[in-house]
Amino acid sequence: MATTFKKLVALTGAGISAESGINTFRDSGGLWEQYDVMEVASIDGWRKNPQLVQRFYNERRQQLAEVAPNAAHHILAELEAHFDVTVVTQNVDNLHERAQSSKILHLHGELTKARSSVDSSGVVDIGYRPIEWGEKASDGSQLRPHIVWFGEAVPMIGKAADIVAKADILVVIGTSLNVYPAAGLVAHARNNTPIYLVDPSEISYPGRNMTMIREKATSGMEKLKRMLVEQP
Ligand code: APR
Repeated sequence: MATTFKKLVALTGAGISAESGINTFRDSGGLWEQYDVMEVASIDGWRKNPQLVQRFYNERRQQLAEVAPNAAHHILAELEAHFDVTVVTQNVDNLHERAQSSKILHLHGELTKARSSVDSSGVVDIGYRPIEWGEKASDGSQLRPHIVWFGEAVPMIGKAADIVAKADILVVIGTSLNVYPAAGLVAHARNNTPIYLVDPSEISYPGRNMTMIREKATSGMEKLKRMLVEQP
């Protein structure tokens, strides 16, 4: 009889990709220091100046082609030898995929995909190439990044909440837990589900006690693996 692995859910944010060279959003020097988030990552920004938004994501997509997963992504994938792992990520990069994690749910969309600007239909893979102005989706509308912008619904949040509610272990890696509804997922973990948080900053989350691993993702995930696998 196959052993049934414990379900480990990893809720990841920009911090897990920081050591791959991708800027986080709210750290000093982060993306939101360089850009006005409401101009480049919101539905209003798209309506006001779609070419600026297009350029912002074309630049990030081009950068993604030049970076690689780091040890934290790889360790998370390696934990699949010991746990039934699902990654619920706020990140739009494809570094979890490239590190061979096998179950990944993107809450905020995917940089390497594009779709209709009328609704969320017609999703196509575009890899790392830019979306040109005038390029059409299958419904004839302007092709847009397949990203969930501020001011838009998060279609996967219900599925993500169900996944977290079934977790035997919840690991939160590299997210400031600033943005809802994603941050609210932590509250869906059962009361007896241990929560580990890997982040070099002091992250507080009201109402749940967590085991804090105050380290960068790469060393923090090494430590977590020892705690969960080598000396459970
Ligand atoms: N290793 C681990 N964590 C790190 C590292 C690192 N090397 N460097 C920074 N961090 C942590 C920061 O301390 C912070 O807690 O990563 C977190 C990054 O937080 P944010 O920049 O707010 O990123 P995130 O939480 O993913 O943002 C959520 O906000 O802008 C929107 O849609 C965007 O998905 C994004 C969402």
